[in-house]
Amino acid sequence: MEIKLLTLYDDKILNELYKIHCQKLGEGYLNKKHFIEEIQKKHIIIAIDKNEVVGYLKFANCTEKEFFKMENLPVPNSNQKILVLYTMAVKYEKKGIGSQIVKFCLDNFLADVNKIYCPVWTSKKGTNAHQLLTNFGLKKIKSYKNFWYKDSLGVKNFCPICNSPCYCTLDIYCKTLF
Ligand SMILES: CC(C)(COP(=O)(O)OP(=O)(O)OC[C@H]1O[C@@H](n2cnc3c(N)ncnc32)[C@H](O)[C@@H]1OP(=O)(O)O)[C@@H](O)C(=O)NCCC(=O)NCCS
Ligand SMILES: [Zn+2]
Repeated sequence: MEIKLLTLYDDKILNELYKIHCQKLGEGYLNKKHFIEEIQKKHIIIAIDKNEVVGYLKFANCTEKEFFKMENLPVPNSNQKILVLYTMAVKYEKKGIGSQIVKFCLDNFLADVNKIYCPVWTSKKGTNAHQLLTNFGLKKIKSYKNFWYKDSLGVKNFCPICNSPCYCTLDIYCKTLF
């Protein structure tokens, strides 16, 4: 399997990534145009297995204040440099793909970073990313119930578990490096 930073926004790969996104995180949550804009604003690492795109992780480097502001959450006093692991999704779960992608990200993009943050989706079925993040030393520090409720109202297929409206929780996981 090949893990790499996506640098050429090839249509075929973008379509594959968006398909995984819709399947695993819901169709109504981000439309395709918005999904592609997000990738171009941030960065994305992808996993390719025998020409098949099998997973991705969107990430960005910024400061704590920038991250909380962008998420529309209360902004903390500290403003350290952080790496944010944004959405991740794999086509075939529990085969180690997600762990390999996160490892690649941490091996290559941690220079000058004080903390790692990850905004995490928790549904009534649990937190899919919990064990993976725990394995890398991240811990839950905050929780926001019904975080997507307002955005989801009237949007078809917003959430793969609730559909619409969405009653899921946004958890913030974090690891302090130094
Ligand atoms: C969360 C996700 C990215 C993890 O990727 P993955 O390739 O399945 O993870 P790995 O195979 O590397 O597994 C790492 C650990 O997490 C556990 N795990 C993986 N997926 C899980 C899930 N859906 N539910 C519970 N535990 C899960 C594995 O069992 C493994 O545990 P272990 O270390 O005790 O053996 C993947 O399950 C996924 O795409 N889920 C749907 C979308 C999603 O929820 N994305 C996260 C949004 S914050
Ligand atoms: Zn939901």
